[in-house]
Amino acid sequence: MTQEQAIEKTIAFVKESLKEAEGGHDWFHIHRVLMNAQLIAKTEDVDRFVVTLGALLHDIADAKFHDGDETVGPKKATEFLSALAIDKTVIDHVVKIIENISFKSSLKMANGEDKGIKFTSKELQVVQDADRLDAIGAIGIARAFNYGGFKNRVLYDPEVAVQTEMTREAYKKSEAPTINHFHEKLLLLKDKMNTVSGRLLAKKRHQYMMDYLEQFHNEWNGKA
Ligand code: ADP
Ligand code: NI
Repeated sequence: MTQEQAIEKTIAFVKESLKEAEGGHDWFHIHRVLMNAQLIAKTEDVDRFVVTLGALLHDIADAKFHDGDETVGPKKATEFLSALAIDKTVIDHVVKIIENISFKSSLKMANGEDKGIKFTSKELQVVQDADRLDAIGAIGIARAFNYGGFKNRVLYDPEVAVQTEMTREAYKKSEAPTINHFHEKLLLLKDKMNTVSGRLLAKKRHQYMMDYLEQFHNEWNGKA
């Protein structure tokens, strides 16, 4: 099977798997991440095949939609890619990307254990930047409120303080208003970008969120 054929088959598999997904984690999210990844990869020395498969499969079974089980995604991806008879080194690399891409995997555990960076590669960095770009800017705002609605969270509550320095457990358990998520994650992403082009793309999207929040608070406080 050629790489092109393997990519076509993966696209079909991902579309089918994410048919019922929440609006911010559906096929269109994957497609945007793939486009972002391809854009960033232009200026990075990476294996494009690994980047493409990593972007396509990175949310194949996000733990937050699988009772917190972080092994479902890697397992699903391994089974699928093995059936396509793809090189084991490629499969292993793609699985490492899925395991290490998420924001919460960079957070410390409550017991102080730092399960953070277990693995890194240029390919992971590109896919991670691509995913982070889709969490910020206009799309990021839409996704945050969609997720908040999906979880029945309030938009904003001035009484609920922002929690910085959250442990991984606290982050997963958080039921805070959606506006808090901007301060707890989305506004932090621009300084976590791995690549030069990712950082550049993040800048404009970050500013857009800052402007949005300013307007949000103006309207909340009865100003024009
Ligand atoms: P990762 O999958 O990288 O660990 P998250 O699980 O934090 O990251 O979230 C992925 C996306 O889901 C976020 O960018 C955001 O759009 C949405 N999301 C996750 N948690 C929240 C939340 N508490 N409030 C609003 N949106 C959220
Ligand atoms: Ni994602």
